[in-house]
Amino acid sequence: MYQTLLSFLEDGILTVTINRPDKLNALNKQVFSDLNTVLDEIYSNDLIRSVIITGAGPKAFVAGADISEFSGLSDHESRALAKAGQDTFFRIENSPKPIVACVNGFALGGGCELAMSCHFRIASDNAKFGQPEVNLGLIPGYGGTQRLVQLIGKGRAMELLMSAAMIDANTALQYGLVNYVVPAEELLPKAKTILGLINTKAPLAVAKCIEAANAVFDETKNGYETEVAGFGFCFDTADMKEGTAAFLDKRKANFSGK
Ligand code: COA
Repeated sequence: MYQTLLSFLEDGILTVTINRPDKLNALNKQVFSDLNTVLDEIYSNDLIRSVIITGAGPKAFVAGADISEFSGLSDHESRALAKAGQDTFFRIENSPKPIVACVNGFALGGGCELAMSCHFRIASDNAKFGQPEVNLGLIPGYGGTQRLVQLIGKGRAMELLMSAAMIDANTALQYGLVNYVVPAEELLPKAKTILGLINTKAPLAVAKCIEAANAVFDETKNGYETEVAGFGFCFDTADMKEGTAAFLDKRKANFSGK
C-alpha cells in the first residue's frame, strides 16, 4: 500500500515506520505522498485511536529532507516544496488523535521538524537532534524555526539553528524537546504504554485537549476561547455523561467516542 512506509495497527495504536534505512529515512516526495495517505487513514479510520511515528533501522529516525531532490529547483519550486512539507506537518500537529514521535537515531533537519510536529516525543539513548540546514546554505523549511522556539525557547533555538550543532538525547531531555529517554529496545514499549493509557480516555476530550493546546501557538485563535468552546462541546457528549456518572457510581467509565 505504501512505497516508503510500514504501518501496523494493534490495540488501536497505528505504528508508522518511515522505511528508507539505506538513505537514513530521508524525506523524499514519495515519503510525503505516503505520509499524506496514512494521515487520511488516521483521520478517517475509527479503529485508529493513536499513532507512533518512527524510523526503520537502528541508526536514524529521519536524517532530513532528501537533499538529492534539492538541486535545480526554481525559487517558486523551492517555496512550494517548503509549503507542502509544512502542510503535511500541520496535518500531524492538528490530528485529533495523539501522534507520538519515537526518535530512534538521527533526527536532523526535516527529521527534527517531523518529530516536533508530533504531539510529543520519546527518544532512544542514541538519538541525536539538530537543524543542520545552515551547513547547506539553507534554513529549515518545514516549520523548524517556529516549533524549535516554541519547544525549547528562543535562546537555545537560535543557537541550534545558527550553529547547526547536534544535541544528544539527554540534552534534548534537559531542553524539554523530548519527554523521556529510554534504551532503544524500550522505545516503542514506552510509547505504547503511554498511548495505551490515553486510549482509555474519552476520544473527543483528547481531541479537544490537542486543539486547545495547539491554539496557544496559533495567532488566528484565542486559546482561552478555544478552551471554553472545547469545554462546552465536551459537555454535550455521551462520554461526558458516562465519565461523570461512572465517577459518581465508583466504577470505571466505558467511553464510546460519542
Ligand atoms: N538526504 C539524502 N540522502 C541522505 C540524507 C539526506 N538528508 N542523509 C543521509 N543520506 C544518505 C547518504 O547520502 C548515504 O547514501 P549513499 O549510501 O547512497 O551514499 C546514506 O544516506 C547514509 O548516510 P551517510 O552520510 O553515509 O551516513 P553517516 O553515518 O556517515 O552520516 C549523517 C550520518 C546523518 C551525519 C549524514 O548522513 C548527514 O549529515 N546527513 C544529512 C543531514 C542533513 O543535512 N539534513 C538536513 C537536510 S535539509
